[in-house]
Amino acid sequence: MSYYTFEDFYKNTVELSFTDHPYSLTPKHVWVICRFKGQWLLTEHPRRGIEFPGGKVEKGESAEKAAVREVFEETGATVDALTYLAQYRVKGKGGTIIKNVYFATIEKIKIKAHYYETNGPILMKQLPESLKDNDKFSFMMKDEVLQRSMEYIFKNKILQL
Ligand code: GTP
Repeated sequence: MSYYTFEDFYKNTVELSFTDHPYSLTPKHVWVICRFKGQWLLTEHPRRGIEFPGGKVEKGESAEKAAVREVFEETGATVDALTYLAQYRVKGKGGTIIKNVYFATIEKIKIKAHYYETNGPILMKQLPESLKDNDKFSFMMKDEVLQRSMEYIFKNKILQL
């Protein structure tokens, strides 16, 4: 199965599909599951908490470029290879957002004095089993997008342990 519907942490409806850009060819948001030398690379957002890096696509920018840029701005990491995984659509109170999900392998991490909108990189050998009740983690990590994306990554051997 490649299509899922569920509620997010805030009870907004999410549609997630592991097909090629099902909801928009020009999504305005990106999210990047990053891997560096046997660890997950995340970032700490000052309000939301720990999450994989991502953000908004700028005017005139491609989603792929935005993914690479956001990873660098939020963690100091340089993307080596970027793989498109899925796209999801969230229908919230304030409107609908469409986000591409990517998997990235990281070449190197540069320690920076300042990180754009975050407190910088976080490396983790393993993500905790259950994130739902964990205050340290962002709401973005608490719905099926993460779980299904991880399943997809391993099932399709995008990452082999
Ligand atoms: P700024 O980044 O400061 O502009 O904040 P914003 O909250 O307006 O940003 P954005 O347009 O990214 O998100 C609008 C709303 O969409 C958020 O408040 C969330 O409810 C929802 N949203 C954004 N990204 C995600 C996501 O990855 N997953 C889920 N489930 N909801 C999201």
